[in-house]
Amino acid sequence: MAKGIIISFEGTDGSGKTTQIKALSEYLAKKGYQSEMLREPGGTKIGEEIRSIVLNKYNTEMASLTEMLLYASSRAQMMEEKVEPLLKEGRIVILDRFFDSSLAYQAFGRDLDFDAVLSINLAAVKNIIPKITFFIDITPEQSLKRRQNASETDRLENEDMSFHYKVYEGYKKLLEKFPDRIVRIDGTKEAKEITKEITSYVDNILKED
Ligand code: TYD
Repeated sequence: MAKGIIISFEGTDGSGKTTQIKALSEYLAKKGYQSEMLREPGGTKIGEEIRSIVLNKYNTEMASLTEMLLYASSRAQMMEEKVEPLLKEGRIVILDRFFDSSLAYQAFGRDLDFDAVLSINLAAVKNIIPKITFFIDITPEQSLKRRQNASETDRLENEDMSFHYKVYEGYKKLLEKFPDRIVRIDGTKEAKEITKEITSYVDNILKED
């Protein structure tokens, strides 16, 4: 049986992650691979409850550390309840955001200590890290433009542009820190072209296994 692996997607809001995740999952199905798409909180009841606190736009007094720990808690729950069993079955787990989001948004965006956020998150995921992470790169301005059509915004999306810039710069730093795992994809290209690029990386990984 094939080894289970995690493939994660990252990017600012509106980067087209969801479209690409669907396309990758369809591609894998055609090739006969069983994949599972999850987005945090991954459909866990406890995770949903945590996330409703984190994203509630009326929770304006939330401390940055609280925010970071809540995301990590929801992640820990999803890992144990959903991801680990799937990996054991040999599935490919495609994640729409994972701990790199906490490094970009909470460490860089909220100015929390990077090493602390990293070690708390590695503990939360029991050191199970993605085989590859796609960072779909669009600038904060492009992201804002794409989001203007969205009806409801959450507490994080309501942050000012300087926060979104810090997150974006954070992702760039993550690319430098983890060059063997994180791949930058130009999010301004045609969706089909992006899919081709992503699937060719994934093909190479599947060949290795
Ligand atoms: P999500 O529900 O994944 O929305 P989307 O990817 O469609 O924007 O995430 C909601 C918000 O939470 C988003 O603005 C990013 C933020 N976020 C963090 O700040 N830290 C995290 O660890 C995660 C997973 C998300």
